[in-house]
Amino acid sequence: MVNNYLQTIISDHQLINDRINLMSKSKKNKNSQQTISSKLQSFLDEADRIKKQLRQETLNRDELEQKYLGKKGLFTRLSAKITDIPKTDKPQAGKVLNHLKEDITAYIEKLSGDKSQLGLDGNSIDLTLPGKKPQMGHLHPITQAINEITDIFQKIGFVRVRYPEVDWDWYAFGSLNMPQDHPARDEWETFFVDESAHSKKGKMVLTPHTSNGQVREMERVGEPPIRMINIARCYRRQQDVTHTQMFHQFEGLVIDKDINIQHLKGTIDHFAKEFYGPSAKSRIRPFHFKFTEPSFEVDFSCHICEGKGVITDPNDPKRTTTCRFCKSGWHEVGGAGMVHPNVLKAGGIDPNEYTGFAFGWGIERSYTLKEGLNIDDIRLLYSAQMEFLQQF
Ligand code: PHE
Repeated sequence: MVNNYLQTIISDHQLINDRINLMSKSKKNKNSQQTISSKLQSFLDEADRIKKQLRQETLNRDELEQKYLGKKGLFTRLSAKITDIPKTDKPQAGKVLNHLKEDITAYIEKLSGDKSQLGLDGNSIDLTLPGKKPQMGHLHPITQAINEITDIFQKIGFVRVRYPEVDWDWYAFGSLNMPQDHPARDEWETFFVDESAHSKKGKMVLTPHTSNGQVREMERVGEPPIRMINIARCYRRQQDVTHTQMFHQFEGLVIDKDINIQHLKGTIDHFAKEFYGPSAKSRIRPFHFKFTEPSFEVDFSCHICEGKGVITDPNDPKRTTTCRFCKSGWHEVGGAGMVHPNVLKAGGIDPNEYTGFAFGWGIERSYTLKEGLNIDDIRLLYSAQMEFLQQF
């Protein structure tokens, strides 16, 4: 018996020629069909089964495509079997495959065409209604901030680097002009790693700041100029509305001949305007760090009161209230200063020939001060609450 499937396609597609060919090959007598090889016969049977099965499917378009035409799909597996078919029968098997594929594709097309016109219950639907938009994911707000900060500094010639987030005491403290056991280490609420200490570089710590990148960058570059922007995770034993135990910092380091405080102030100002908008201002206040001399704390002007610290009542210009967001007109974001000669020496750079500046501050902190964000609890950023994160 000629296989059912073959018969269907012969009648379906009126492939009279196919039939004639098949017949003529089969000695042109009544029992001609029986001369089909057993391998071709089972090939055709399987094609037949696949076609029947297709008609009973309740799967959607994607599932159908995968089940039939995917890498391990029914059709794909059948077509691989063509290699077993005797040479003389191969053309027939090939034709069957072609038709089967046409059938499957047409069926899937038809099915998805039908579904787009009809609701699931078979009633027609209004195609003019706006569609449901698929939910698109986006980068985490801190990743967005990192990209933006990277861009701002790369445009003025800084090179983005990343250094270890678990590092030796030497890079995190020792090389930064804090001799062994100097209490300045306590200022950073450091997590020490329970590992035996390195004979020269000391204990391992979870980096409490990105300043560990300073001497690492001097070692990497060797001879200045250096223009580094090091962005990495940092860790400190502190958790409240303005701190998370894991956070990010970005550290700038510039070393060259004749670098002075004006270059530092100019760079900070440039960042403030690029990141917060053209009316933003920065200011530096004297401070103390072991690794910079002189050292400063860096503030940015508050965008709510524009650095005034007070809000004027729009109905009565004489009445003012303290700005609740900053209370003083400024937000402190981090530290900066001129690189201490001992740090340059630790990095193998001659302080008589070169000078430099460095700054470093928190990304979460800097980001939450952006206009319109009003994030009053920094921990929300890492809460994995979609309602919160989707806003950014
Ligand atoms: N590392 C300092 C901190 O985390 C900030 C800083 C960086 C200060 C570079 C001066 C120079 O507090």
